[in-house]
Amino acid sequence: MAISQSSLLVSIRFLIYLFVFTNLDPVSSQNCPQSNTSLLNFTTQFVMVQHQLRGSFSIINDCSFRVSEFDMLPGSSHVHWWGALGDNYENLTSGFVISDEQLNTTTYKNDTFIVNLMKNITWDQIRVVSVWDTSMSSDFGHVLLQNSEEIPPDPSNSSLEIHQEPTMFENCKVLSDTYRLRWTLREDKNVIDIGLEGAIGIQNYMAFGWTEPNREHDHMLNADVAFTGFTEEGVPFSDDYYITKYSECIKNENGQFEGVCPDFRYNHSDSDSDSDSDPNSDSVNNTNLVYGHRKDGVSFIRYQRPLKSVDKKYDWDIDVNTERTCIWALGLIKPPDSIRPFYLPQNHGKTFGHVHINVSGRVNDCFGPLDAEEKEDQELVIANQKEPLIVTSGPSLHYPNPPNPSKVLYINKKQTPVLRVERGVPVKFSIQAGHDVAFYVTSDPLGGNATVRNASETVYVGGPMAQGVQSDPQELLWSPDRNTPDQVYYQSVFTQKMGWKVEVVDGGLNDMYKNSVLLDDQQVNFFWTLSEKSISIAARAEKKSGYLAVGFGSEMENSFAYVGWIDLNGSGRVDTYWIDGMNAQSLHPTNENLTYVRCKSESGVITLEFTRPLDPNCDPKTRPECNNIIEPTTPVKLIWAMGAKWSAGHLTQSNMHSVKSSKPVRVSLIRGSAEAEEDLRPVLAVHGFMMFLAWGILLPGGILAARYTKHLTGDIWFKIHVYSQYSGLAITFLGLLFAIAELRAFHLESLHVKFGILTILTGCIQPVNAYFRPKKPANENPSSKRAIWEFVHSYTGRSAIVMGIAALISGMKQLGNRYDDKNTIGLTWALIIWVGLCGLTVLYLEYMEQNRRRGSESGLGGNWVLGNGEDEDADLLGNGNGNHREKESESERMEIQLEPVSGRYTVI
Ligand SMILES: *[C@@H]1O[C@H](CO)[C@@H](O)[C@H](O)[C@H]1NC(C)=O
Ligand SMILES: *[C@@H]1O[C@H](CO)[C@@H](O)[C@H](O)[C@H]1NC(C)=O
Ligand SMILES: *[C@@H]1O[C@H](CO)[C@@H](O)[C@H](O)[C@H]1NC(C)=O
Ligand SMILES: *[C@@H]1O[C@H](CO)[C@@H](O)[C@H](O)[C@H]1NC(C)=O
Ligand SMILES: *[C@@H]1O[C@H](CO)[C@@H](O)[C@H](O)[C@H]1NC(C)=O
Ligand SMILES: *[C@@H]1O[C@H](CO)[C@@H](O)[C@H](O)[C@H]1NC(C)=O
Ligand SMILES: *[C@@H]1O[C@H](CO)[C@@H](O)[C@H](O)[C@H]1NC(C)=O
Ligand SMILES: *[C@@H]1O[C@H](CO)[C@@H](O)[C@H](O)[C@H]1NC(C)=O
Repeated sequence: MAISQSSLLVSIRFLIYLFVFTNLDPVSSQNCPQSNTSLLNFTTQFVMVQHQLRGSFSIINDCSFRVSEFDMLPGSSHVHWWGALGDNYENLTSGFVISDEQLNTTTYKNDTFIVNLMKNITWDQIRVVSVWDTSMSSDFGHVLLQNSEEIPPDPSNSSLEIHQEPTMFENCKVLSDTYRLRWTLREDKNVIDIGLEGAIGIQNYMAFGWTEPNREHDHMLNADVAFTGFTEEGVPFSDDYYITKYSECIKNENGQFEGVCPDFRYNHSDSDSDSDSDPNSDSVNNTNLVYGHRKDGVSFIRYQRPLKSVDKKYDWDIDVNTERTCIWALGLIKPPDSIRPFYLPQNHGKTFGHVHINVSGRVNDCFGPLDAEEKEDQELVIANQKEPLIVTSGPSLHYPNPPNPSKVLYINKKQTPVLRVERGVPVKFSIQAGHDVAFYVTSDPLGGNATVRNASETVYVGGPMAQGVQSDPQELLWSPDRNTPDQVYYQSVFTQKMGWKVEVVDGGLNDMYKNSVLLDDQQVNFFWTLSEKSISIAARAEKKSGYLAVGFGSEMENSFAYVGWIDLNGSGRVDTYWIDGMNAQSLHPTNENLTYVRCKSESGVITLEFTRPLDPNCDPKTRPECNNIIEPTTPVKLIWAMGAKWSAGHLTQSNMHSVKSSKPVRVSLIRGSAEAEEDLRPVLAVHGFMMFLAWGILLPGGILAARYTKHLTGDIWFKIHVYSQYSGLAITFLGLLFAIAELRAFHLESLHVKFGILTILTGCIQPVNAYFRPKKPANENPSSKRAIWEFVHSYTGRSAIVMGIAALISGMKQLGNRYDDKNTIGLTWALIIWVGLCGLTVLYLEYMEQNRRRGSESGLGGNWVLGNGEDEDADLLGNGNGNHREKESESERMEIQLEPVSGRYTVI
């Protein structure tokens, strides 16, 4: 009995078990009656936010929904179905998990599946369903649930799906591994929507278009293509192009544009009228951008073009029912420059092709999402020991981990970059992000004080007090050490998700090189270590570029340049050049003996390193690079340039830089200091002119007047002498002030400064000794005291002039050295000729004077004596019977000297 009882119990249990478990699913669906929710059968498409998420969403009943044709790149192991009240930052971050089912870490490719809600969740609780990574509070994609009454009627087209996401199309065709074409035909509206999708760099373009009908070969010529991409600011564009020639867009001899040009260019060369007044300019550019984004290293542009265009000249009509040949290409975008002020495609290399397409046929061969190799698009900021990192806040344009608050952190004007610091190298922050942002470095990826969320975090630096504004920034010092993990985050204590990652690395360039300076415009960091015979150099660009060139010399012309770039095989190279002009032809590859050469590109940031001998030790006549000698004691002038692309073989216009230093920086390799070279040429020109006026004209003129015009009536010579000497000295002091004030320094080492100081000192002796001039005796023969004075006075004056001329010439030479100016050589020669002419004039005057003297039989020797002949100066200045004059100021003496004009020789 006992056995039968227990067996009965078992079978009952079994029955219960059977009932419960076999009916679990039916029961749950029966718990979801066909309610009268207006959301039933609601269908929409996912908004792509990250992870290339695409797909359709439809509500089946009160507790489940269907996801179909679902694409998604793998996320973390914390990706859930998430419900929220709205799609903004606050609503999404305060959402909740709505299903026990999780998304797994595989790549979803055209998957279709049904998801059940949790029992305690109903559709009324949620307005947004999101694919959500709970570990990073990250939205991969979401849908908005709208009651059918709330859906605004779409007046434009009812035949289309109601919620057409810009990322979703009816058709998709694979053009290459990294490039896809998507399209939706809207024949009734005479347009076709085209989506171009490429797993390419942001500096690349995507082009696609229709070839000339019935052209069998040579597909490019006369093709009507759209040229799409992103500007340097990250703004998407799509332009209507037409190809008339295999070349860049240029104007030919007839003033007509040809090559690969925007349609409106051709139109312009036809009429050559102003663009705004041109009535056709609208119809010419009829490739209309609809949408564009850059996500996970994939560029996506959606544009719309007419099937039958009004522009018959440069657009082909698309016949929807026939198969047509289309061409495509990927390549680098050439940024606008002064000659071509618009974005242009560069040569596409090997990434182009053609494809036959019938736009009305149904095609979908894109299986799964595009998976780019390099998904991180964020800029990289590498901390430098010397320069503080400027932390500000600003609008979010492309936050790497959406959703995010409207305001996010910027470092060195870059939005939420990846920050790289080195262990052992202190980092200085200057926090000026406003009082509502408190900066800190934390182990928590979300920030905003994890303690408040009941999570734990380690704070490395900063906190609620680390806040400041631009006028009153807060300094913060952080020393990452051995124990700092490889990845931490910079965030705000008050708000979540304002910052991004900090990469902590061992031994970077700061560690490996003894010295570093930031070159002009703070775009390039230059590192070096000197040893006895060689120098190790590293340079790092602080922004994304295709190559980095560092030059020794004050301009790109006449410099030795080191170019770091990545070749087609992906390996880094450092090439050396001698540049002697402005164009590509004057770039001469050289063969410098570099060792330990390295060049790498990390997230577009180029770093080049090499070691070279200080002296190449070869014959300068054989090769230009043998002149490239580094003398550690003399400052070197450094310049830099960056551009999109470098190529080794044939150097073309495309190698020309897009950004370059605006002025050279003088780097003292021994001292490890840098000084921006300021252009003081105008100031120094004034200085030079004043000194020339004083020492080339006024002072020598005054001396000549004293010597050769004594025979003229009156005391004219004396007045000329005194006036010109005083004004000459006054101008000298002004000129000196000019130079000192502008150079802000007084380097006694230079020859020019030595000459100049000596000249000015000697010049200053003159008025002083003139003041103590002994009175000329009344009798014919001057007293010995007077003779000595005259001798001293005239010879100090003359030697001052000689030194002054030396100072003038050495000054010209120094100016020439400083600016490598060719016209200083001309000016120096002009100066020398002037001095020569003056010398000849003196000789001539001396000859005349001797003749005159001989003629007058005065027989007085002492031709160095100033005051021989009819000398009245005693009456002017002397009045020497008392010392009371000596206290009078110079201005009074000037007045005294003026007296003779009014006919009186006595004073005041
Ligand atoms: C939802 O769709 C199903 C089948 O497609 C249909 O039977 C049902 O009537 C629809 N319900 C509503 C409310 O439109
Ligand atoms: C959530 O979204 C709704 C409407 O979308 C809005 O009214 C509400 O303020 C939002 N809540 C928060 C916390 O932002
Ligand atoms: C991941 O999820 C999909 C759809 O739910 C399922 O088909 C697949 O088997 C899952 N893969 C793993 C590894 O769990
Ligand atoms: C639903 O129930 C689960 C436990 O089963 C709970 O963790 C969750 O917070 C509940 N959600 C809501 C919105 O009440
Ligand atoms: C063409 O038109 C679009 C807007 O329709 C505009 O964004 C684009 O800049 C125009 N392109 C040119 C080259 O004018
Ligand atoms: C994706 O799945 C749908 C059916 O769910 C199918 O019609 C379509 O051809 C598939 N697409 C690809 C690219 O495999
Ligand atoms: C977070 O807030 C708690 C108190 O709410 C405070 O004790 C803690 O210092 C805060 N953390 C930071 C990093 O400011
Ligand atoms: C280059 O320099 C290294 C050492 O600095 C030397 O051994 C080598 O011979 C040099 N090569 C040439 C071609 O000058």
